[in-house]
Amino acid sequence: MSAAPPKGLNEIQAALADYHASLEEPYKVTPAGMWACSRSEEVYDLLKQLDLNPYGHLADLGSGDGRVVFLASLFLPATGIEADPGLVQASRAMAQRLGLTRADFLCSDCRQEDLSPYDLLFIYPDKPLDWLVKLLPAQWRGSLLVYGPYFQPQGLTHLKTLYAGQTMCTLWQR
Ligand SMILES: C[S@@+](CC[C@H](N)C(=O)[O-])C[C@H]1O[C@@H](n2cnc3c(N)ncnc32)[C@H](O)[C@@H]1O
Repeated sequence: MSAAPPKGLNEIQAALADYHASLEEPYKVTPAGMWACSRSEEVYDLLKQLDLNPYGHLADLGSGDGRVVFLASLFLPATGIEADPGLVQASRAMAQRLGLTRADFLCSDCRQEDLSPYDLLFIYPDKPLDWLVKLLPAQWRGSLLVYGPYFQPQGLTHLKTLYAGQTMCTLWQR
């Protein structure tokens, strides 16, 4: 018997809505920062606006409930790195139920991770990005996609500004 086909945007949004129905609040303080959610329809739109062909693997640095990784895995392999064990557990369970075999999750502080396997980094930052610029490997030639206008990386080259709905997002390279 063949495996179930991966689910798309509607099924991902339904799984997230079910998960959120079980929570008191859709945000919290985590072991490494603050969890708040990007908008799934905006992230999907953003991914569709980008030419993803040059990229082999996306990582979401601080993946929260896993939404960006689920959506990105519709296009390319995607890994979420998240410090909060409960969010990682929920993300893994949803990915499995949705049949998203290209989505996976590490429960870790991403400041301790080697980012060289990932050539497209996504972040919805909860703090200034100086730590991330320092962490990028010297030989890294990927792109960094920043969701939201609040924190922009210093010392990288700005490639593009994109709007996902009303949300300003920016794309950067070394
Ligand atoms: C603003 S939320 C974004 C969540 C998700 N990327 C999204 O778009 O919905 C930031 C997330 O990053 C996580 N985070 C912050 N610093 C981190 C770190 N150093 N290592 C791992 N996770 C981190 C927080 O726990 C939180 O879940």
